[in-house]
Amino acid sequence: MKLLVTGGAGFIGSAFVRYCLSRTDTPSEIVNLDKLTYAGNLDNLAEVAGNSGYTFVQGDICDAPLVNRLIAFHKPDAIVHFAAESHVDRSILNAEAFFETNLRGTFTLLEAARAAKLPRFIHVSTDEVYGSIPEPNDATEEYPLKTSSPYSASKAGSDLLALSYYTTHKLPVSVTRASNNYGPCQFPEKLIPLMISNAFENKPLPIYGDGMQVRDWLYVDDHCRAILAVLEKGRAGETYNVGGSRSLPNREVVQQILTITGRPESLMTTVADRPGHDRRYALSSEKIMRETGWAAEKSFEAGLAETVEWYRTHPEWIQRVKSGEYQRYYAANYSNR
Ligand code: NAD
Ligand code: DAU
Repeated sequence: MKLLVTGGAGFIGSAFVRYCLSRTDTPSEIVNLDKLTYAGNLDNLAEVAGNSGYTFVQGDICDAPLVNRLIAFHKPDAIVHFAAESHVDRSILNAEAFFETNLRGTFTLLEAARAAKLPRFIHVSTDEVYGSIPEPNDATEEYPLKTSSPYSASKAGSDLLALSYYTTHKLPVSVTRASNNYGPCQFPEKLIPLMISNAFENKPLPIYGDGMQVRDWLYVDDHCRAILAVLEKGRAGETYNVGGSRSLPNREVVQQILTITGRPESLMTTVADRPGHDRRYALSSEKIMRETGWAAEKSFEAGLAETVEWYRTHPEWIQRVKSGEYQRYYAANYSNR
């Protein structure tokens, strides 16, 4: 399979590229289109950079002539679309890039795929489009969309646009909606890598509000296998939830990080809550399991221990991404909380 991957230098996209290129049973060729925003990092792809089946193109998914040229030249069998502005807190500080990339960028890719009559398009989305799920429900794919942040609103808009290209133009689009991912190479603005890297530096671990908000944790490689399962076995025009089946309150996650890193509980600091903070995410993944045979494999305890170990052994990676822009973002988001 020849894949045009967007956002392949980010956290999940780079794990997907590494995973696909490491498979010996089904060799794939990958063209990775990434703008290299603050979240894009070629260090994540160092191990595949010399692979003959891998091509990197720095560019913007909103650049229609570039996207059309890439499709005409490489003739991919599918687009796997990860590229996005992905952090809720940044969308609260300034939502502009979210609407540009998540909506206009997705529109640009869909138009190019339609014009080229591409045989497959996977739109990678999120459980945040369902909003907060009251106990004891788990959201199925039929659950109503009810977004809380500019980020989730932009993702819900792009999901609907992608599905409309199936309904109206018969472009074979499938949408995946995953829960909170964690693992190596995640930018330290998200809960788990932020808490790990602050713990290493003995800095306060900022808990929003009461810290009893619940998230369903999915190891990034399990997510990558789910996307491949949908690409290979999923039905066009359908949406597939991908959950980790491991719901935990934030406080408990942070407590586990303190235990693994051997840091004291006194580092946990309560700060003002996130505006519009969703209380609980919970997904039913019954459909993807039934239709494709996929199941999450990594236990949270094993995945978290491996993730902490990855950050412990990659101090230079953390140091590079935490310089410059990160410091400005950190001050803007945390200094007056
Ligand atoms: P990320 O922020 O780590 O990476 C995003 C990547 O997209 C970066 O490499 C960035 O350079 C690239 N990018 C951004 N704007 C671009 C543009 N205009 N053109 C080309 N490239 C651009 O994100 P992530 O956490 O890896 O998330 C990937 C996808 O998965 C997103 O669509 C996100 O909504 C979705 N998702 C994420 C999670 C999660 O927990 N992280 C869970 C479910 C779904
Ligand atoms: O559910 C899938 C989504 O998960 C993805 O679509 C998003 O791209 C991804 O960022 C993530 O969104 P969340 O908002 O759930 O993730 P985040 O890591 O930002 O926060 C997880 C929880 O931890 C949330 O309840 C807010 C809380 N939190 C987060 C940070 C960064 C804190 O208490 N303190 C913090 O400093």
